[in-house]
Amino acid sequence: MNRDLPVGVIDSGVGGLSVLKCLRQALPDEQFIYIGDTARTPYGSRSEAEVRAFVEEILCWLDAQQIKMAVIACNTITVLGTTTLQQGHDFPLVGMSKGETLVLRASENKKIGVMATPFTVSTQAHKKAILAQNPLAQVYAQACPDFVPLIEREILSGPDIQQAVAKYAKPLKDFGADTVILSCTHYPFIKNIISKELGTEVKVIDPAEETAAIVKQQLKDKGLLRTAAAADSIICSTADINRVRRLAEYMLPQGDYIYRQVNLTE
Ligand code: DGL
Repeated sequence: MNRDLPVGVIDSGVGGLSVLKCLRQALPDEQFIYIGDTARTPYGSRSEAEVRAFVEEILCWLDAQQIKMAVIACNTITVLGTTTLQQGHDFPLVGMSKGETLVLRASENKKIGVMATPFTVSTQAHKKAILAQNPLAQVYAQACPDFVPLIEREILSGPDIQQAVAKYAKPLKDFGADTVILSCTHYPFIKNIISKELGTEVKVIDPAEETAAIVKQQLKDKGLLRTAAAADSIICSTADINRVRRLAEYMLPQGDYIYRQVNLTE
């Protein structure tokens, strides 16, 4: 594997840009190829078979781009299991951290909230990871199906997003969570609204930074850290590249990117 190849970054839409931000910070010399399947987002309200088929198309497209590693910057895809997704592809896959160590360290009362897509919540992956580390912890996972469609439509403030945040925050407040993890990579786009609604005493954790640190370690361990001069990263989407560019400029105010709308089957 050539260490000067780019690193692929995958999401169902624009959510993974919040992870790309941390990846760029942790790995400033790497080149990234981001691919968001905006034509078919959201994945989190779809069946497992459908999501698996879409992800396989993305991974085959990345095969053709020639990458040295793919970061699954999406919890909904990560919970399918990187080992099964990896089959048939030469590059290693790194998924989102479930953040169990982070939340258990941050939480005083060990009452932890998880905000995620309906699919991610249905797998109980985050709850299981937290309980495996501390069986006495209590975990309440809240599915937030309205968030991704609103964020994809660039609705990052105003009454619609406020109402949705209030609706999903209420059960977590009633439960008494003192720490809430954002287990969908879209949610950091509205982290300030979520934090405000949950209240200043509730810690809101985004596992993107930890994920970027894991990616860095894996590249190091595999001898794959880039040696060539940094090249511009590329942001691709399967639809609405201008909308993706606006959301990327919001999430990634620094840095030059090349934008491309792509057809996965070409
Ligand atoms: N950003 C994604 C995640 O982390 C998926 C959102 C979706 O497509 O529903 O789960």
